[in-house]
Parts: sequence; C-alpha cells; structure tokens
Amino acid sequence: MILYFEPQPDRAREYAALLGKEVRPTASLGAITELVNADKTAQLVLLGSGVVLPDALNFAKQMRMIRPSLGVVLLRDHLDVTDLAEALRAGIREVVLPGDVVAVREALARSLEVSRQLGGAMGTAAPAPARPTAGRLITVFAGKGGCGKSTMATNLAVALAGNGAHSVLLMDLDLSFGDVAIMLQLAPERSMVDAVGMTGRLDETGLRSLLTPFAPGVDALLAPAGPADGERVNRDLVSEIIKTARKVFDFIVVDTPPFFSDQVLAALDVTDHYILLATPDIPSLKNLRLTMDMFDLLEYPKDERIVVLNRADSHVGLTPADIERVVRAPIQANVPSTRDVPVSINQGVPLMVKDEAHPVSKAIKDLAVNRLGGGEGQQVYPATAEPAGNKRRPFLLRRGAR
Ligand SMILES: Nc1ncnc2c1ncn2[C@@H]1O[C@H](COP(=O)(O)OP(=O)(O)OP(=O)(O)O)[C@@H](O)[C@H]1O
Ligand SMILES: [Mg+2]
Repeated sequence: MILYFEPQPDRAREYAALLGKEVRPTASLGAITELVNADKTAQLVLLGSGVVLPDALNFAKQMRMIRPSLGVVLLRDHLDVTDLAEALRAGIREVVLPGDVVAVREALARSLEVSRQLGGAMGTAAPAPARPTAGRLITVFAGKGGCGKSTMATNLAVALAGNGAHSVLLMDLDLSFGDVAIMLQLAPERSMVDAVGMTGRLDETGLRSLLTPFAPGVDALLAPAGPADGERVNRDLVSEIIKTARKVFDFIVVDTPPFFSDQVLAALDVTDHYILLATPDIPSLKNLRLTMDMFDLLEYPKDERIVVLNRADSHVGLTPADIERVVRAPIQANVPSTRDVPVSINQGVPLMVKDEAHPVSKAIKDLAVNRLGGGEGQQVYPATAEPAGNKRRPFLLRRGAR
C-alpha cells in the first residue's frame, strides 16, 4: 500500500488512477501521519508535486524519527539540485518528475525493496535480529594532497548506503582542513570536537548527538571548524569514536588528510579495508609507493589494500602497466576524470546522488557493491568475520616492538 497525498483533488484522483490500486489517496499530511502510527506495516509514502517543499521536508524529517524504515518519494515538476540536496538531507529517498510514470513506478519499487530489507532490521515487520557483526571500517588514504580522497569518501558513503539499505557513518578525520561539510553543504553545527567532553564514556547516544544527517542511511561526523580545535581530538578519542560507531553503523568511511597523523594511524590501525588513491602522475605514484612501504612496516594486511586510480583516463603518457610497475600493486578500480566532479562539489551534491549512471558513480558503486558488500539488494549486515580492530595488535604495541 502506497499512502499518497496531493493537495489538488483532481490531480490526486487522476494520478492515483494512473498508478493503480496499490495507491491509497489521503486528505492531508496529518492523515498520513495518523495512518502510519496506526499501521506498523506501512512502508511507502508518495508526496505529490502540489505539496510545498518545506512541508514535504518537515514531514520526511518527522517520519525519519518515528518510522526510519518508511520510504518517502517526492514528485516535483522541475528537478532542481538545491531542492534535491535538501530533500536528501531530510531523508526523502527519491525525487522524481510526475510526467515520467515509469520512473515513478521504478522509484516506488526501489523504495519498497529498501523498506522491506530495513523492516526486518528495524523491527517494523519483525523483531530486530541481534547484530551478528560489528560495522566495517573503510579508510580512504593517499600520501599526496588533492588525489580525490574527499570526493571518493563522500561518493563511496552514499554508494554503500544503497538508499538506506545500510547505515553509513562518514567521518572526516582531516581534522584541520576537512572538506566533507563543504562538499555536502552541511552546516557544521556539531563536530568531532564536541566529543572531547565525552572522552572515556562515549556511548551510542553521545555519538548520535554529534552526527549531521546527510542522505538516507548516511550520517556525517564532521571535522572541527578550525585547525586549533582539530588538535583537541587525540588518537584515543578517535579510537573510542570508532569503537562506538562500529556498534551503530554497518560501515564507517573515514576521510583523511594527506599524511600519517597520530589520529589517522589510530583509524588505519583498526581499518578493515584501505582505499589507497593515486592519480596518474609520477609524484602521486611515488607517494603511493611510499605509503605501501609504510603499510608493510605497520603490517597492514596486503589483501585489504584496494588501489584506486583517480582521473585514470588523463592522457599523460603513462600506461596502466607503467603505473602498476611503480606502485608494485594491481590497480583495482579506475575512476575517470571529468569536470562533472568539480561541478558536483560546487553544487554540494555528490555525483552518486545526482547521477548514479555517471561513469564516476558507476566505478565507485562497483567498488562499494562488489568489493565492500554495500549498496542496495545486499544483506543489511554483511556476513563477515570479526572486524580488524579485534584481531590486530594495537599500533603502539607494534611501534614499541620495532
Ligand atoms: N575524477 C575526477 N575528475 C575531475 N576532477 C576531480 C576528480 N576527482 C577529484 N577531482 C578534483 O580534484 C580536486 C581535489 O579533490 P578532493 O578534494 O577530493 O581531493 P583530496 O585528496 O581530498 O584533497 P586534500 O588532500 O586537499 O584533502 C577537487 O577540485 C575535485 O573536484
Ligand atoms: Mg580532502
């Protein structure tokens, strides 16, 4: 059953008839809230293009609190990136043009599928199963600045979440010059520095109070607004945040500065999958080689190092074989170079949100789904072994041993 509200009665009748008998027209947003409260199995709401945006956003935010597994799909007569970004932040799963009825049906079907998966995990359709495993930590790293770490981290987080099928924490460990807030146009009202007062006793509620929601399934833990505050977040606090986040999220994606700080090492030391980025130029490849050497010294597992070549198609006279020879590791993913990346960053909407079929989105989605076990249509909890944090020695022990 799809609960549908459109304030213009003629339009509501016509559109409901077009979509079929699965659709139940309602008289107001308040009526939908009552129906959702009364029916624990309600999974999908369709809001017509006559619903003004602020009302739709407030409704979605409210639903996210009272029924996180409920999907809200919004119709808009014109697709505008600013509206799209706001809709995503409020937790709306899809925004579609009403004239494209096939696309509307597909969006509704996708949302229902996500709700079905979440229903089991969130106790709306069945009691929540015990969480079989801790969240997986994925760190995006490069020894050289500007390789595309933040671009990768933000898009990867959205891809892993698969429209809300998985919960993902995007953590900005570039503590002095973090870009996640600006890239997603999030107001940095809360940041990691607010965790300082909770050191030693950070629990799930404390962690949640620090988060800024971005898109269905994706919450951000932002870097402090200024470099001075960044210094107050020490490695023990980073370890504590990660430990707590593993209990709450399916995936934690860490964005990093281009160097091995103490805080970055705290994350790398308990990372399950490393995304190592380089661009096809000699300084960047040399830095990746040095990073690999450092990883060897630190005994980070080789089979969890995923080397990604960003701007891979830039014609700069290096063949893939040349690159693999310098790096001494296979390139596992190639992300093309395109002006659509800076354009999407300037708009504050990751390409993965704006255009899932874009070659950049496809390359990152492939990594998320086939290499990391995220995305839609996967198990809500990846059936994996215990996380790295439980099986490896702490970094300090290793450092002391050298
Ligand atoms: N595939 C791409 N195609 C075109 N431009 C790209 C691509 N990836 C990244 N860029 C551009 O490169 C610049 C640096 O990207 P980004 O900020 O993601 O790198 P970074 O590694 O996080 O940098 P820093 O080390 O400063 O944090 C941005 O202007 C971005 O638009
Ligand atoms: Mg960055």
